[in-house]
Amino acid sequence: MALKITVIGTGYLGATHAAAMAELGFEVLGLDVVPAKIEMLAAAKVPMYEPGLEELLRRHVAGIEGSTGRLRFTTSYEEAGEFGDIHFICVNTPQKRGEYACDMSYVDAALESLAPRLRSSALVVGKSTVPVGSAARLAARLAELAPADVEPELAWNPEFLREGFAVQDTLHPDRIVVGVASERAEKLLREIYARPVSEGSPFVVTDYPTAELVKTAANSFLATKISFINAMAEVCEAADGDVAKLAEAIGYDERIGRKFLRAGIGFGGGCLPKDIRAFMARAGELGADQALTFLREVDSINMRRRVHMVDLARGAVGGSFLGKRVAVLGATFKPDSDDVRDSPALNVAGQIHLQGAQVTVYDPKGMENARALFPTLGYAPSALEAAAGAHAVLHLTEWREFRELDAAALGEVVADRRMLDGRNALDPERWREAGWEFRAMGRPRA
Ligand code: UDX
Repeated sequence: MALKITVIGTGYLGATHAAAMAELGFEVLGLDVVPAKIEMLAAAKVPMYEPGLEELLRRHVAGIEGSTGRLRFTTSYEEAGEFGDIHFICVNTPQKRGEYACDMSYVDAALESLAPRLRSSALVVGKSTVPVGSAARLAARLAELAPADVEPELAWNPEFLREGFAVQDTLHPDRIVVGVASERAEKLLREIYARPVSEGSPFVVTDYPTAELVKTAANSFLATKISFINAMAEVCEAADGDVAKLAEAIGYDERIGRKFLRAGIGFGGGCLPKDIRAFMARAGELGADQALTFLREVDSINMRRRVHMVDLARGAVGGSFLGKRVAVLGATFKPDSDDVRDSPALNVAGQIHLQGAQVTVYDPKGMENARALFPTLGYAPSALEAAAGAHAVLHLTEWREFRELDAAALGEVVADRRMLDGRNALDPERWREAGWEFRAMGRPRA
């Protein structure tokens, strides 16, 4: 009989994982404690913008015409405990308020709600990003809370999906990492991931702490790569060099690689910033804080980029924002997402607004979330309308739509043709030819 899978937590990670498991042929039950989310998902609607996810849901959600019916949703732990042979925990682990450490309360609550309701010796698999040592602690808690007649097990299987590519990354992962404490757990996870493995995804088996660390190490490396190139951008600006050319040239060295070397206003989102901070906090607890002091610098280089963008914009409009209009293109932390969590773009927009400018923001998908987070900023329904009367236009999230903008048409509506590219994604020549004063971070002025 096909394995039955529950997925606990239906955010970016859980909703995608549940749909992907159904796509792989399993019977899946998705659980969330927020009834509104479950209602939407049960109608094959996605509570966030994620390319391809709605199509995948429609293929599998029970009750949708023509679907396989393999995917259902519930708010009941009772039902989940009875249903699953394997339970994936996919709840979020946000940064604690006012602290670097991550908040484990959702993971703890999920495990504590599930454990007493298990009806079989199921495998519980953590996917959330957690401080190293959590899996061992949760395994003990699971044994303690499970009914006497069942012997559940725990495994850790970190998730590496990127927002905007969640479906592709889940169905065709770069690698599958499983931290296990028994052969049975490894065997079950090999069964779950048989298809991606047969299609070439490497399957790495480790212990709990290594599996937990792989995730935080990978995100720390990516954050370091971005801050490295942003540090080079600072030097390029001082020396009149070109960071885009520099990145291209060093990237041809295969040991360095070309990806994740785009200088600009830096990284944001729900993962990289909080993961490197939680990693530092955990290393401190373990007495290994010296090993990660460089991450403090990675974080501060990153935060400095936002301030630098504000300084560049203020300089461009004559030294003061008072009485100036600034158009901001982009609100989300990256393109192809509606996620505005710790978005560098909105942070820059907010600072400029506080310094007295009239700021108007446009984003293809993130407007609703941006408005909820920054209600005092101005918003416009298109790039052209946002730019109307602007003394400077700031390109802060690299949506394709912005790369394809008609520079001449935009030039007609602004007060001054001044474009600042905070993502190094626009073509300087094109904008300069259309009469714009064009400035990109870490690149020569003209
Ligand atoms: C990241 C990891 O990539 C993923 O593996 C992990 O599972 C979750 O965290 P995500 O947060 O979706 O994924 O975004 P990512 O594509 O990594 O981008 C993070 C941030 O870095 C964005 O704000 C992006 O704009 C910025 N970035 C990325 C740069 O500033 N320059 C680059 O060269 C690349």
